[in-house]
Amino acid sequence: MDYKEHIQIINDYPVKGVQFKDITPLMQNGEVYQQAIDEMAVYVKSKNVDVIAAPEARGFVVGCPIAYTLNKSFVPVRKSGKLPRMVVETNYGLEYGKASLAIHKDAINPGDRVLITDDLLATGGTIDATIQLVEELGGEVVGCAFLIELAYLEHGEKLQNYDVYSLMTYN
Ligand code: PRP
Repeated sequence: MDYKEHIQIINDYPVKGVQFKDITPLMQNGEVYQQAIDEMAVYVKSKNVDVIAAPEARGFVVGCPIAYTLNKSFVPVRKSGKLPRMVVETNYGLEYGKASLAIHKDAINPGDRVLITDDLLATGGTIDATIQLVEELGGEVVGCAFLIELAYLEHGEKLQNYDVYSLMTYN
């Protein structure tokens, strides 16, 4: 399957110089969406995970169906101010802008094998922040899975100690 046929590239969105990868055409094709999730789930299953964690919003688009498919827990990592109970939080930089992410304190048990997933790996700021939160709670990050990796952006160092899987890579 050539998944890239179902990704639309929008130049200079949301700011000049960024080539936005729009995953909504892939999601709009039920068969392709299912096949992409199933393929990612094969990798996730091989990591023998307890928990799947993903940052909002587009991370949920891949994380929830993978968790459902594998009958595993799903933990949402959300932008600041969205989770109602005790959280741990961290600030991070994005390809365009800054943000902060939070996770419920009781979402991960120490020693849990956690797989983090997201739609896109760009600068790595979001995944790095998510790893920090999971590890602060004592989780072991056993892998990171993405629909898309932008290999032309520098993110290697942040992830060099982690197992990374990407369904599509843009060089
Ligand atoms: C996008 C994307 C990833 C992140 C990747 O999310 O869904 O989470 O950016 O970029 P990075 O590797 O440079 O951190 P965004 O923060 O735009 O939020 P959204 O999913 O709510 O649209």
